[in-house]
Amino acid sequence: MAKLLVTGGAGFIGANFVRFWRRRYEHDELCVLDALTYAGNRASLSSFDNDPGFTFVHGDIRDYDLVTRILRDREIDTIVHFAAESHVDRSIHGPDEFIDTNANGTHTLLKAAKFAWLDQGSGRTHRFHHVSTDEVYGTLGPYDPAFTEHTAYTPNSPYSASKAASDHLVRAYHHTFGLAVTTTNCSNNYGPYQFPEKLIPLFLINALHGRALPIYGDGQQVRDWLYVDDHCLGICRVLADGRVGEVYNIGGNTELPNLQVINQLCEHLDALIGGDPELAARFPDSPAARGIPTSSLKTYVKDRPGHDRRYAIDTGKITSELGYRPGHDFRSGFAANLEWYLKNESWWREVMDGSYRKWTKQQYGK
Ligand code: NAD
Ligand code: TYD
Repeated sequence: MAKLLVTGGAGFIGANFVRFWRRRYEHDELCVLDALTYAGNRASLSSFDNDPGFTFVHGDIRDYDLVTRILRDREIDTIVHFAAESHVDRSIHGPDEFIDTNANGTHTLLKAAKFAWLDQGSGRTHRFHHVSTDEVYGTLGPYDPAFTEHTAYTPNSPYSASKAASDHLVRAYHHTFGLAVTTTNCSNNYGPYQFPEKLIPLFLINALHGRALPIYGDGQQVRDWLYVDDHCLGICRVLADGRVGEVYNIGGNTELPNLQVINQLCEHLDALIGGDPELAARFPDSPAARGIPTSSLKTYVKDRPGHDRRYAIDTGKITSELGYRPGHDFRSGFAANLEWYLKNESWWREVMDGSYRKWTKQQYGK
């Protein structure tokens, strides 16, 4: 039986990971440590309230004493580290929190893990798994080969730079101190529980309210989209059979320009809402409810500063070494995702009415 500490487990990918893990390993002990920032939502984990093997600790990864206590008292043998500030736009408006949480926070966790697992000589077999992003590799031209694990780091945003710093620290704690680490660098995820500031949930919810869909620049930026459960699957494969000290890239082999994703979202909503009077009554401000194409909301706005043009992941290593293959194609994953948001209106309403509103007001005065 494994004893996991999942940092950032109340966020988008962390909450999906806890679910994914529990479906596979019903007897493992799961402890989530989350500071419940604007992006963390305790409600995303409410289905675990009666799970005796699940504990939620409201706390900060930068709190060394707290982390050390959790590792010792709960005899944690595996850390899966998701906690981070994760939104590029926020990192442009306020980089400090990104450096603090992503670089310093990861370092605090590493120090605590070293103390608990190595210095105190518990002799416990352990793993520190670090969840990172493909954005550390920078940007690609249209004909460049996809990122491999050997691509040089060239982060372009404060977010990706802070994640790059954390990746280097994880690597250093393995090489210098012998901490048993693995790292995964993953492409853009989509799926349930994603905070509605990222492209897909933001555009979906804006469309439901008849609000503009703000397309940065020409909308031809390319991302490699992966359904969140397939990211979780990749992490599970690395935890099970990945080589200690190694890095694995995870991606969906689904490179799409933003405009194509946005058009697909618009067409999907037209069909769903246009063909369902009950949905049309629930979202009367959506163009589709009034027989107008959702694409009429598309609005080109000023580009994001330093906007990376293209990301693409070469999944050769994780595929050949660990037999990893994503289980969802974009069409089916995307449809399932939209359905989830339509069914779980109370989840995103709560999120939109709270912290996100406050932040956008502060930053943009709207
Ligand atoms: P998210 O913003 O939805 O969630 C982050 C979580 O971390 C939140 O629950 C938040 O409360 C928590 N947190 C933040 N600061 C904390 C702190 N100091 N102490 C404890 N908890 C804290 O992020 P996400 O999209 O779920 O991303 C999770 C991880 O995956 C991040 O490390 C991110 O860099 C990485 N990643 C994300 C994507 C993506 O497409 N979303 C892709 C690749 C990698
Ligand atoms: P995002 O979801 O923020 O992820 P990332 O920046 O980490 O890739 O954005 C995905 C793409 O969508 C990215 O190219 C920026 C673009 N985008 C917009 O055009 N408009 C928006 O309002 C947002 C949030 C993103």
